Amino acid sequence: MDAYLLDWANLLLRWLHLITGIAWIGASFYFVWLDNHLVKPTADELRAKGVNGELWAVHGGGFYNAQKYMVAPKALPEGLHWFYWESYWTWISGFALFVVLYLAQAETMLIDPKVYAWGSSWAAIVAALVYLAAGWVVYDVICRVFGQRAQGDLIVGGLVFVYVIVAAWIACQLFVGRAAFLLTGAMLATIMSANVLMVIIPGQRRTVAALRSGVAPDPIHPKRAKQRSVHNTYFTLPVLFAMISNHYASAYNAPSNWLVLVAIMLAGALIRQFFIARHFGRTEWRWWLLGGGLIIAVAVALAPDRPMSQASLTPPTLAEAQAIVEARCLACHNAQVQSKNVALHTPELLEQHARGALQQVSSRLMPINNSTGMTEDERARLVAWLRRAAQR
Ligand code: HEC
Repeated sequence: MDAYLLDWANLLLRWLHLITGIAWIGASFYFVWLDNHLVKPTADELRAKGVNGELWAVHGGGFYNAQKYMVAPKALPEGLHWFYWESYWTWISGFALFVVLYLAQAETMLIDPKVYAWGSSWAAIVAALVYLAAGWVVYDVICRVFGQRAQGDLIVGGLVFVYVIVAAWIACQLFVGRAAFLLTGAMLATIMSANVLMVIIPGQRRTVAALRSGVAPDPIHPKRAKQRSVHNTYFTLPVLFAMISNHYASAYNAPSNWLVLVAIMLAGALIRQFFIARHFGRTEWRWWLLGGGLIIAVAVALAPDRPMSQASLTPPTLAEAQAIVEARCLACHNAQVQSKNVALHTPELLEQHARGALQQVSSRLMPINNSTGMTEDERARLVAWLRRAAQR
């Protein structure tokens, strides 16, 4: 597809993805919060109605009184609001964005022969899709086999954790770091969305159908739905990290990048645990200590020997800077090929893009996957030149 059109598809899909993602996660966080804050009603009239928990809140100038029925009210109201489109559209827009950004540009965005020598880009594309689908299959089997046993939650939690570690490792052995991080997050996000599509909503439909026809609903459905939505809550922070990770080359290009990914995702789940406990009125700082400690440990482990900012080089001459750019950048930023509308083949263009290029080169985002083999020395010298050019 035309690079310009691809850029617009990227912009619009990303925008949509953010909006639907906020709506989904916002609702999901709200309902977890609500569920955990419910108090037993004291009024006899409420208990007689079957209300098992209630909450008073004030928001946007109005007072709200939410009530939760266990399992359901005696008579179902006609209008019943369901939450699923937020989740489905987040997945659809996310998947479309993944296609546009990674699969349609598999040669540069998905594949790096230094990581894994794919015979063809189609093989890599199919593998990425299988990877996404396999995540759901494995996870669902784990939940179905162990979910209802004694200590089921613990066993499922442990097995899913091990699976995520293995999956992160596999992704990082097969794909470019940037894509591997995203793919691992997308795999978890696919599980989250499939939980809604395949378990939570069908369960609710069966419960509603039973109630409407006057049969006692099977309590397995709300139980199973609750279990899946608890998983979703712990996946949320890890997934969000994976989604923004493509901006942080020092993380996804790290030598043991799979370990970085696992550590930061685990930190996210631990920090989420702090907030869950907090909902119940417990302030358990140990979760921050563990999660924060993990993040600090990763930051220390990844710290460069010689930070780029301290590379106190005298900037090279324009001719030297141009030589580096010619060798390492022009393949994708020239008069004909202008990735992201950036061309760097004249001194004027180089000056014009100095600020953006400085940001991209010093954070190691460019050259993409260092596909042109830029050396550390070249990077330090080009950064020094760009820094001075950016100040002019
Ligand atoms: C293999 C191809 C390739 C090479 C080599 C390459 N780039 Fe890029 N560059 C791209 C692509 C693709 C994008 C768009 C990336 C995106 O949208 O995430 C891009 C984007 C950029 C941007 C715009 C970033 C933004 O988001 O606004 C700048 C600036 C840039 N490159 C500078 C450089 C510099 C400087 C070099 C050499 C050190 C370089 N690039 C080498 C492919 C390349």
